[in-house]
Amino acid sequence: MAIEIIVFSGATHRPSKTTTLLQALASECKKIPEGGFNISTFDLLDVGLEFGAAINRDELSSKARAIIDAVEIADGLIVGSPVYKGAYSGLFKHFFDFVDPLALLRKPVCLAACGGGHRHALVVEQFLRPLFGFFGALTVPTSVYAADSDFHQYRLCESGVTERVAQAAFEFTHLVRSQF
Ligand SMILES: Cc1cc2nc3c(=O)[nH]c(=O)nc-3n(C[C@H](O)[C@H](O)[C@H](O)COP(=O)(O)O)c2cc1C
Repeated sequence: MAIEIIVFSGATHRPSKTTTLLQALASECKKIPEGGFNISTFDLLDVGLEFGAAINRDELSSKARAIIDAVEIADGLIVGSPVYKGAYSGLFKHFFDFVDPLALLRKPVCLAACGGGHRHALVVEQFLRPLFGFFGALTVPTSVYAADSDFHQYRLCESGVTERVAQAAFEFTHLVRSQF
């Protein structure tokens, strides 16, 4: 049985450093021999930016609902947001406001964020981890933060970040597999 992993990026444009970072995490997970993961990636453009005007779930497009459903039933999530004004972006939070409060209970979640510099490197700990704590998710101990200077032409080029990506992917993979 394939283990379904959803990568969800709070990016609103392509290419995106946030999506690149999340894809690096997904690639590391695929390298781990006992992984056996089926990984699908979505960003806010897949959801459709018009979802920002929706308040109730029944106002969402079918594609937005399908992605929320995929997040809710996944065996594990790899999620990340660009840093906007010292926190996750408003649209990233708006997406998770539609997720059923019980759907992520005990679900392994790997956390990442990208900011312009290193000043907001704790955004993952101060904003993302508490959000997924609300859901009762099992967040991976190692989180990953990257600044714009850690990329060259939308490719990760900083070895410290790459090492954290490998460590986070290792922890995530084992956490997901421990659920089966
Ligand atoms: C509206 C807006 C607000 C931002 N606020 C911050 C911030 O508070 N701190 C920070 O480090 N970077 C901030 N940034 C920079 C982005 O987080 C950074 O460039 C990030 O790498 C973008 O990722 P992306 O390529 O996935 O969009 C902001 C960018 C925008 C557009």
